[in-house]
Amino acid sequence: MVTILALETSCDETAAAVVSDRTVLSSVVASQIETHKRYGGIVPEVASREHVVTVGDAIATALDQSRLGWADIDGVAATCAPGLVGALMVGLTAGKTLAMVHNKPFLGVHHLEGHIYASYLADPDLQPPYLCLLVSGGHTSLIYVKDCGHYETLGQTRDDAAGEAFDKVARLLGLGYPGGPVMDRLAKEGNPKAFPLPEGNISLPGGGFHPYDSSFSGLKTAVLRLVERLRAEGVDPLPVADIAASFQETVARGLTKRAIACALDYGLPAIALGGGVAANSGLRQHLQEAAAEKGLKVMFPPLKLCTDNAAMIGCAAADHLNRGHRSPWSVGVQSRMPVTRVMELYGESQP
Ligand code: KG4
Ligand code: ZN
Repeated sequence: MVTILALETSCDETAAAVVSDRTVLSSVVASQIETHKRYGGIVPEVASREHVVTVGDAIATALDQSRLGWADIDGVAATCAPGLVGALMVGLTAGKTLAMVHNKPFLGVHHLEGHIYASYLADPDLQPPYLCLLVSGGHTSLIYVKDCGHYETLGQTRDDAAGEAFDKVARLLGLGYPGGPVMDRLAKEGNPKAFPLPEGNISLPGGGFHPYDSSFSGLKTAVLRLVERLRAEGVDPLPVADIAASFQETVARGLTKRAIACALDYGLPAIALGGGVAANSGLRQHLQEAAAEKGLKVMFPPLKLCTDNAAMIGCAAADHLNRGHRSPWSVGVQSRMPVTRVMELYGESQP
C-alpha cells in the first residue's frame, strides 16, 4: 500500500487529496465556476492565476484533513496532461517542488487516466478489462481499460465534447454557465419527443456509420436553427423545457447506443462512467436500461468523483507507484496527449 499527495489543476478546479491505494483520506476541491461565470466560459489565463492563489491552501487543507504528516506520504502526484497549459503548470510545479523538498518520488498523471481511476475509488474491487465512457466538458471517449497505464481509445467525438454541447446549447437558450445541470433540471419538465434532432452519427466513406464515434456540432446547429425558426414564427416564450428534453434525449440515446455496441463487440462485461456529464439523469436512465437488457454491468461513480478532483489522480498515481513507476524530473505539461501514451510519463517509450 502507498499513500499519495495528489494535485489537479488542469482546468477550473484547484484540487488536492491524500489517497492510500483506493481509499480517499482527504479530498479538497476549490471550484472557480463563480469566477468564470461572468465570462460565460473558462478563461485560461484567469484559471492559472486562481490556481496560484488557491493551491497552497488546498494542499495544506488536504494534508490537515488526512491527519497525516510528510513522513506518511510515499509520493507526490500532479496532473500534467492534457489540459490548459498554464493551469497544469501550477499543479506540476507545486507537486515537483514538494516532492524534491521532502525527498519523495514524483508522478505526473494523465487526466483521463485519473477519470478512469475514479471508478476504482467507487468500487475498489473493480478489475480490468472494462469499458470507460468518459463524458466531460473537454472529452467524450470510449476507452478500453486493459490494465494500469494501458488503454485503447475505441471511440471519440469528432468535434465538441458532450459537456461542451450541453454548455453551448444552454448558452443559446440563455440558461447561463455551466449549462449541463440546468438543462438536466429543465429536461425533467419537458417532452423529450417534442423536437426530433440529429443524433450526430459519423458517416464512413464506404457507407454506413462509425459505430463508436460521435459528433455534437451538427446537433448544436440543429438546436440553433430550431430556436431561430420558433422565434421567426413568433413563439414566445420559447418552449425551453421541451428543447432541453429533446436535446438531452438525443445525446443520451446516441452515447448509450455507441457504448453498448462497443462493450458487446469487444466482449467487455462492464461500462464505467466518468466526467461531469455522467451526472446526467437522461444518460443514466438510458444506459442503465440498455445495459440491463444486454446483461452488462454499469457503474456510475458518485458525482464528486466524476467531476474533476485530485483523489482520482492520487488513486492512479498509487497504482503506478505500487508498480515501481515514477516520472523523470524532466516531465513537463502537455495540452494534448492521447491516453494511449500514458506510459511515456514514466519514462517508457511507446512501441
Ligand atoms: O468533468 P467535468 O467537471 O470537467 C471537465 O473535465 O470538463 O465536466 C464538466 C461538464 C460541463 O460541461 C457541465 O455542463 C457538464 O459536465 N455537466 C452536465 C451535468 N452536470 C455537469 N451535463 C449534463 N447533465 C448534468 N447533470
Ligand atoms: Zn476532467
